[in-house]
Amino acid sequence: MSDIVAIASDHGAVERRLKVVSHLQQRGIECIDLGVADGVSADYPDQAELVACEVVAGRVSFGVVLCGTGIGISIAANKVDGIRCALVNDVFTATMAKEHNNANVLAFGGRVPLYDDLHAILDAFIDSKFTGGRHQRRIDKISNLEKNSC
Ligand code: RB5
Repeated sequence: MSDIVAIASDHGAVERRLKVVSHLQQRGIECIDLGVADGVSADYPDQAELVACEVVAGRVSFGVVLCGTGIGISIAANKVDGIRCALVNDVFTATMAKEHNNANVLAFGGRVPLYDDLHAILDAFIDSKFTGGRHQRRIDKISNLEKNSC
């Protein structure tokens, strides 16, 4: 699939979302921006669902979700079967999110500081490769948890 990303935020992260969109577009990545518009309130589970559905349907390479902290929207996205959403705030967590977790959705907070430049964090995720091996075994175990056998 050519690089295409679905992105959405609630009202707590509009400015950071637009910065993500701008950087991805500068890299030649097409963005499906699912809002929310500036000045409009949105519930983060609804925004998470919009992106998660694009990802599990295979219509995009990966997703990006944002809310005030990044916490609520990452929790919500991870409720959708097949989603591995990683809340990242620096280059190291973004790199590990791809290399070890093969995350298919990135989450950011809009009201929290980042420990590295936003562009560098995005580039770290995009340019890293999943390393497989024992990490695939662990991801398979995550998928098994979706069967909810407790
Ligand atoms: C919305 O005010 C806020 O709760 C939300 O953006 C997020 O921080 C929740 O985790």
